[in-house]
Amino acid sequence: MLELIDICFEKDNKKILNNINLKIDDKSFIAITGPNGSGKSTLAKIIMGIEKPNSGKILFNGTDITNLNIDERANLGISFAFQQPVRFKGITIYDILKLASHNKKLTKQEACHVLRKVGICAEEYLNRELNSSLSGGELKRIEIATVLLRQSKLNIFDEPEAGIDLWSFNNLINIFQKMHNDNQASLIITHQERILNIADKIILIKNGKIDYFGSKKAIIENICANCPNEGGCDYECC
Ligand SMILES: Nc1ncnc2c1ncn2[C@@H]1O[C@H](COP(=O)(O)OP(=O)(O)OP(=O)(O)O)[C@@H](O)[C@H]1O
Ligand SMILES: [Mg+2]
Repeated sequence: MLELIDICFEKDNKKILNNINLKIDDKSFIAITGPNGSGKSTLAKIIMGIEKPNSGKILFNGTDITNLNIDERANLGISFAFQQPVRFKGITIYDILKLASHNKKLTKQEACHVLRKVGICAEEYLNRELNSSLSGGELKRIEIATVLLRQSKLNIFDEPEAGIDLWSFNNLINIFQKMHNDNQASLIITHQERILNIADKIILIKNGKIDYFGSKKAIIENICANCPNEGGCDYECC
């Protein structure tokens, strides 16, 4: 479904991504993890077309999308939820949900239904603006609702758990599992072991390179072998 070939990216003479080669199969559920600053968000932005690689190629279902813009990639079936969602002054939550649903006439009832899925008590939110009056966790959940509505072939989430309360986090896990059952592919950047647990495969990124791509068991052992905490951490092998 998605193939990255020798992707390199640098900014201000600093190498951020180094020869990334990656093949993601149809319908797969992949978690991407790794230390802060290792290049995870940059990789997601390169797949979505928010950043352009200095070299390399990106194929999506056999089409070379390297030079396509964000809209063109979205139309081919890629959706992205930012680590820090963007606020839009003057646009209501109902507006953004309607936009996400491919301009089909989304009724208020349908909009409320999808908001409830992400744990937002719907009616009172529909006419609120997507501005700074919304909390960080509310913004994250609204953005996840837009991805749900888009029904894309590939969904990319950048730390969807950030700022999400425990109750909503359980909902989030259900949402990801449902996407998986519906055969949508997902790439989820996360530091959360519960999300790593439900992924088919895990990618570990370190210093702008893919350090490991494989099963959860091996990755946890890899993380634990390099655990900086003398007393162990929360992972089960520590
Ligand atoms: N536009 C930019 N200009 C300069 N440096 C950048 C830019 N974008 C990212 N970087 C640098 O590239 C590195 C990778 O950033 P990135 O946001 O991809 O990390 P990350 O793995 O997502 O980290 P985190 O877990 O903290 O979200 C960081 O050192 C960051 O400062
Ligand atoms: Mg990041």
